[in-house]
Amino acid sequence: MRILSGVQATSKPHLGNYLGAMKQHLELQHEHECYIFIANYHSLTTVQSAAKLRENTLEVALEYLAFGLDPRKALLFRQSDVPQVTELAWILSTVTGMGMLERAHAYKDKVAKGIPASMGLFSYPLLMAADILIYRSNLVPVGKDQVQHIEMTQDMAGYFNNTYQCDVLVRPEPRLNEAPIVPGIDGQKMSKSYGNTIDLFDTPAGTRKKIMSIKTDSTPVEAPKDPDSCNVFSIYKLIADRQKVAEIEARYRRGGLGYGEAKELLADEVERLLAPARQRREELAGDPDYVEDVLAAAGARARKTAEEVMAAVREACGLMTARKQGS
Ligand code: ADP
Ligand code: TRP
Repeated sequence: MRILSGVQATSKPHLGNYLGAMKQHLELQHEHECYIFIANYHSLTTVQSAAKLRENTLEVALEYLAFGLDPRKALLFRQSDVPQVTELAWILSTVTGMGMLERAHAYKDKVAKGIPASMGLFSYPLLMAADILIYRSNLVPVGKDQVQHIEMTQDMAGYFNNTYQCDVLVRPEPRLNEAPIVPGIDGQKMSKSYGNTIDLFDTPAGTRKKIMSIKTDSTPVEAPKDPDSCNVFSIYKLIADRQKVAEIEARYRRGGLGYGEAKELLADEVERLLAPARQRREELAGDPDYVEDVLAAAGARARKTAEEVMAAVREACGLMTARKQGS
């Protein structure tokens, strides 16, 4: 079983990103063959500064390695180290109708907001399908917002196989990340676009300060409280172990647990989660050659798989390339 997921190259990863996506990817590396790539071609639709893109790419790599991606188990690579995906995206575009792409959410959302959409954004689902199909991926762990793209990928694989009467492309299945939506400090979905995040790599004091500013109601300390409607508890229960969660839940219901104390308890748990990763990230940031070696080695292995699939794709549709010299 081959698992694949792509992660946009964004800076300032937050707790929502970790609990909603990365944690699942890291768990899967122990059970399956795992391909995780940094979607830097995709990021060009929004990040148009070379320095920023390089910095963001490194940031994602550091983040995965710091939280325990094991390069002996999983491949962590840059999308652009396998330029063959752009070739496959082109080939897929020749068997895919415009109507399908016009229905894609990412594109429609931008247009609805009045943002001029580039051709790259319009054809985003083609590149994403190529990312998946080029490694004959079986399962693609994603958030709900990405399921439509996987369904399009299934259709595109079918269009190609039907057109060329072959079974070269393998139909992938989505695997929904089960993490619920992590609330930010204002209670809305945690998102960098809302400025309500708890960042993964802040200072310990900075993180604690953020947690102390989580929005709560004004129920007095001694009054019983509903844990399920409290933003502090919503995050706590995703991080702390089951016994601690049960204890705190009981204290909420009984009364006597103030929000100040609840926040301190949450800050302790967050610190327990982040401290080792923060330290590991610092070590890795001081050794950029190691990070580069990990990405380059994984990129070479991914490229090898991609080339095998592309040879079959080219053969199926009659694309011939010059023979290598001497052959
Ligand atoms: P942001 O909203 O901060 O821009 P992204 O859209 O870059 O975050 O999110 C990348 C992935 O992280 C998403 O596909 C999703 O799985 C996960 N994610 C982001 N925010 C949350 C959240 N608040 N709760 C759960 N998962 C989240
Ligand atoms: N579109 C995904 C996102 O925005 C990132 C992505 C690109 C991806 N290619 C992919 C995810 C292939 C899974 C598989 O989060």
